[in-house]
Amino acid sequence: MAIIASNFKTNHTRKSTNDFIENVNNFLLSNDIKEEVYVFPTATSLDYFKTVSNFTLGAQNAYATTNGSFTGEIGTEQLDEFGIKTILIGHSERRHILGESQEEIAKKFSFYSELGYKIIYCIGEPLEVKEQGLEKTLEYVYEQFVGIDTNYENLILAYEPVWAIGTGVTATNTDITSVHSAIKSKIAKPLLYGGSVKVANAHEICALDGVDGALIGTASWKVEDFKQIIENTKDL
Ligand code: 13P
Repeated sequence: MAIIASNFKTNHTRKSTNDFIENVNNFLLSNDIKEEVYVFPTATSLDYFKTVSNFTLGAQNAYATTNGSFTGEIGTEQLDEFGIKTILIGHSERRHILGESQEEIAKKFSFYSELGYKIIYCIGEPLEVKEQGLEKTLEYVYEQFVGIDTNYENLILAYEPVWAIGTGVTATNTDITSVHSAIKSKIAKPLLYGGSVKVANAHEICALDGVDGALIGTASWKVEDFKQIIENTKDL
């Protein structure tokens, strides 16, 4: 069964998130879909959604703390208020735009894994690395596992090549399967693909060898598209 996750990034309001969540939940219920579905709204839209019974709500980011003086960040005290026990760590936008180092990411990973959070841990290479070939790509990706306990039981991995994120350029099936099979040979964890997954290609990508599902940005922000992706992959 595929795992389907939506990363809202910096999109949707509290109101539209609420509508989205209710809509998806009703869809999963009324179609008796058992697929593992995750939604990562913005921090301001996190809430205790009574309607969420058929999928999991997670945080896109949080600091490695319970509380304290970390201006602009949230910690577990804020996540606990809404029963959030799932977090994205290592997303390329946090690495490359917000400047999170591997050391900081590893610290965050340790903190949240010690608390038993389900972690979706993201890895992926930028274009200049991809252009140097598979060997360099894998070298780069393996560096992103430094300090990470890849045996952690509550771990899902997501391979998201940076050049495929938000660009409309999806990795080819060969790109995906060669990286996925290499990672899978070292780490026996569910491995999602992310990077311009959309309604038209979700089934094909999720059906590839070594692909256990998709982490979706842009195409998941429209609820009808997100539901269609779930529908298209539910029998895998
Ligand atoms: P897009 O689906 O917009 O390419 O984003 C992928 C992503 O970064 C999901 O975390």
